[in-house]
Amino acid sequence: MSKKYNRRTFIQASGAGIAGAGVAGASILAGRPKAAEQSALDHIRQQSQRQRAQRFNMSGYRAPRINTVRIGFIGLGSRGPGHARNMSLLEGIEIKALCDLVPDEAEKARKGIEFAGFSPTLYTGDAEAWKKLCDRDDIDLVYISTPWNLHAPMAVYAMEHGKHVAIEVPAANTLEECWQLVETSEKTRKHCQMMENCCYDFFELLTLNMARQGFFGDIVHGEGAYLHTLLEGNFNKNGYWNMWRLRENEHRRGNLYPTHGLGPICQIMDINRGDRMEYLVSVMSRDFQMNERARQLAATDGFYKEFVEQPYRGNMTTTAIRTNKGRTIMLQHDVTSPNVYSRIHKVSGTKASALKYPLPPRIAIGHRDWVSNEEFKALEEKYAPPIIKRVGELAKQVGGHGGMDFLEDWRLIDCLRNGLPLDQDVYDAALWTSIAPLSEWSVANRSNSIDVPDFTGGSWKTNKPVDILLEEGGNTKVIRAAPPRERRPRPVPEGVQQ
Ligand SMILES: NC(=O)c1ccc[n+]([C@@H]2O[C@H](COP(=O)([O-])OP(=O)(O)OC[C@H]3O[C@@H](n4cnc5c(N)ncnc54)[C@H](O)[C@@H]3O)[C@@H](O)[C@H]2O)c1
Repeated sequence: MSKKYNRRTFIQASGAGIAGAGVAGASILAGRPKAAEQSALDHIRQQSQRQRAQRFNMSGYRAPRINTVRIGFIGLGSRGPGHARNMSLLEGIEIKALCDLVPDEAEKARKGIEFAGFSPTLYTGDAEAWKKLCDRDDIDLVYISTPWNLHAPMAVYAMEHGKHVAIEVPAANTLEECWQLVETSEKTRKHCQMMENCCYDFFELLTLNMARQGFFGDIVHGEGAYLHTLLEGNFNKNGYWNMWRLRENEHRRGNLYPTHGLGPICQIMDINRGDRMEYLVSVMSRDFQMNERARQLAATDGFYKEFVEQPYRGNMTTTAIRTNKGRTIMLQHDVTSPNVYSRIHKVSGTKASALKYPLPPRIAIGHRDWVSNEEFKALEEKYAPPIIKRVGELAKQVGGHGGMDFLEDWRLIDCLRNGLPLDQDVYDAALWTSIAPLSEWSVANRSNSIDVPDFTGGSWKTNKPVDILLEEGGNTKVIRAAPPRERRPRPVPEGVQQ
């Protein structure tokens, strides 16, 4: 008989799944690092210095075309059902399986795609049910939207079982896991794409095309961030499954969610495709609010007692990265302080610059002022890349973070159906994700610098830039109208301000 799981169940049991997948460093379930380990985090430094010859280059890799992409989804809490819904609108896909530990979540996701007429098998009620989904031989793509510590174990297992993999951000929690994703993808020749949706946001795509056309001159510097107040969301006991996001922030200290700000800047700088990151430093403020919030909540609700007096991540972490070509990147992370939402997205070149946040986005030629609204519109028209011209309006109608979620899902399926290289390969997944553990080391070591590993094994020198011109493919049609988007309600406990 299966155990009963709901959104608050904490399952030690799923540790077995991780061990079974042969992946080290599943941090939450393996228990929290002891204070002494935490202070030096030497295993991170060792992994950062690892060098490895490439076994097979997955950058630019064209996997055999798949006419109908058969998909299995794992993790159907807040994020997974949106991806299932996006995919349901497309031609050339079939949803074969849905998996969530919590039966209600799997059932809700099934209902959400009923309009498309698929009859997926549900895997649920067991922390290892996802393995059964991966074991099937009639699935091409496994799409993972679970808590962070399960991403790499599930992705590795899925690739080992012959599936391409799409993973929500970040791709992993540890450097060991980042290396494992690279090794497994190269060994199995299965794609492993981290679904960094912000690379598909409209201004980010515009500035990428402008950079390609030389508008900014040489790119000197880029800035990105994740400034998004999640304090109450993280403490919401009806929110993230088993408080997983709070637990991550409770014992890992650094830039834990780097990829939203970083991905678009890396594409603009052709990182892993002509340039590479060499080293970084990170400095972190103290925690001003998380322990305080835990104490306030625990005073009236025993549920929160375990969250009091923990070594929480500080409010703000600032990371500075230097690249081989002498460029710099600044990345910030603060999901506690009441900031207006920002991913910054600053592009600074020898001729021009752009800045997305605080909204509205702006472009400047020279140092005097931003261009006027009319000039901005003209630039937008001139430099809009083909993906925006072809699918942009439709993506806005479908929605999901303004349309970028649909664009990323459409593009993934279009690449798989046409046998094209993916826009984000396993080296991008590993590199963009690695900033989190690397920043943890730097923070724990008085902001000293740490090497950024070269996951490409040297192929960054010759890898080709991402195709943003849709020179091939771009022919996957939308064949169903999107039903109204249902936002998953997250009930707020009494006394908690969202
Ligand atoms: N790209 C974006 O804009 C964006 C936005 C939100 C979340 N995310 C990412 O999406 C992922 C999921 O976040 P979320 O907000 O949906 O979290 P969530 O807590 O709402 O959902 C996670 C789901 O995973 C399920 N789960 C846990 N253990 C499982 C197991 N062993 N087997 C199967 N299912 C299991 C839970 O039951 C839950 O339904 C995270 O990586 C997060 O960072 C990305």
